[in-house]
Amino acid sequence: MSLKDQLNPDRIPTHVAVIMDGNGRWAKKRGFLRAIGHENGVGALRKTATTAAELGVKYLTVYAFSSENWNRPKSEVNALMSLLVGSLKKELKTLTDNKIRLNAIGNLESLPPKCQKELVEVIAKTKDNDHMTLTLALSYGSKEEIVEAVKGIATKVSTGKLKVQDINDDTVSQHLFTSDMPDPDLLIRTSGELRISNFMLWQIAYSELVFTDSLWPDFNEEDFYKAVLDYQGRERRFGKISEQINS
Ligand code: IPE
Ligand code: IPE
Ligand code: MG
Repeated sequence: MSLKDQLNPDRIPTHVAVIMDGNGRWAKKRGFLRAIGHENGVGALRKTATTAAELGVKYLTVYAFSSENWNRPKSEVNALMSLLVGSLKKELKTLTDNKIRLNAIGNLESLPPKCQKELVEVIAKTKDNDHMTLTLALSYGSKEEIVEAVKGIATKVSTGKLKVQDINDDTVSQHLFTSDMPDPDLLIRTSGELRISNFMLWQIAYSELVFTDSLWPDFNEEDFYKAVLDYQGRERRFGKISEQINS
């Protein structure tokens, strides 16, 4: 039986998050420039987004550029920003054909104006697509996001809009970029690295983690099905015991 046929259609994760890692190593292995690795990563994202949408995943959130990635060589940062603009233009049709709504989270004002403009346009053009939401995390850092949330909450307290005793975990969630989506059920990281690298620290409190050795440009439908199958084989206990979950 194919991997796809083994999937339980009643247990498709609602929100899948992906740390798309390994573009540079993929390129290096072939003697190419790192930028070629990133270019090939776009194809893997297209494949993953259409596969996820087809399976019935409602939210796909991908880590495309971290706050810390600004510290890479300027030439690589520039190549990534041009690739972003070019890909947004080229992939509008894929988004439309698959009824995928585009969304972005992160410190978006720090992106070059051209990227911001293209993002705003594609987000507006896809806003009524209701099959799946694809969120690009761009210039995103989870600690920064949490700091901003704390500032927002503190401001509400200091202006009397919120009482300290009313602050709970929902208050924090509502002040994050992801306030309009459920927390990820499944987090996938490619390229064999076993770390989170400042991605959605709050939101992944109870996500199932899947690490794969595939480098991002090689990540394909089968890898995605495998990750979902792995997820479906897990028992999510949320602190309870097995007998409580199964009764
Ligand atoms: C992920 O691939 C893409 C970004 C971080 C923008 P990398 O560029 O990190 O690839 P490796 O980890 O160096 O192989
Ligand atoms: C994490 O990958 C960020 C993205 C995938 C966009 P990195 O390659 O930047 O992470 P580290 O530096 O290996 O932790
Ligand atoms: Mg990397």
